[in-house]
Amino acid sequence: MEPKLDEIYDEFAKTYDDNRGLFDLSDLFAGFYQRLHPSPGQLLDLGCGTGEAFSKYFIDKGWQVTGVDFSKQMLALANHYVPEMTIMHADIMQVDFEDNQFDAIVAIYSLFHVSKDRHSELFSKMHRWLRAGGKAFFTYATKQYTGKDEFDGYINFLGKELFYSHKTPEELYADLKAAGFEVEDTQYKEIGGETFLWVTVGK
Ligand SMILES: C[S@@+](CC[C@H](N)C(=O)[O-])C[C@H]1O[C@@H](n2cnc3c(N)ncnc32)[C@H](O)[C@@H]1O
Repeated sequence: MEPKLDEIYDEFAKTYDDNRGLFDLSDLFAGFYQRLHPSPGQLLDLGCGTGEAFSKYFIDKGWQVTGVDFSKQMLALANHYVPEMTIMHADIMQVDFEDNQFDAIVAIYSLFHVSKDRHSELFSKMHRWLRAGGKAFFTYATKQYTGKDEFDGYINFLGKELFYSHKTPEELYADLKAAGFEVEDTQYKEIGGETFLWVTVGK
């Protein structure tokens, strides 16, 4: 049986700690940030990991941030480096929040670890949790990363087999529209030798 993803990320925590600040995501963060009005507000970070760099970026600008992650060790680092963030040790598919609670929701390098069959369910919840005018921003795996138009399977990352899952971008956009979102921006970006699709949607 494949090891569970939360346990794999527990083991990765030290690697993340050793490589803090290696990838510069500041252009992407700034691009999303400038779409948000009013600001500061409340951010939900799904699969927040260590809370860096995204949550910290928002906290430094005065936002209140709630981070959800199922790896205890990643959250221990978040507690250390971004103590202002409210952390929840949970599966992002299990949590629930008030309607219209957040001004922004992000899922940075995390949604692709959830089965594509469950993405629509999460998009509907994210839409409900966002206030009108709120935005969401997430990383999506595509052919540029997995080599397949659609994918459900394991890829080696830093010596461990990790589960990844995605539909085609066209199916993704249809799912987002069905959940009530407007797709505002999509861009492929190569960072650290990996190309992912970065998607911004609005309610
Ligand atoms: C590649 S890391 C990215 C962490 C952080 N967002 C960042 O950009 O540095 C993926 C994170 O998502 C978390 N994760 C993946 N699937 C999850 C799930 N279903 N529920 C909660 N956390 C999850 C992992 O534990 C890990 O911390």
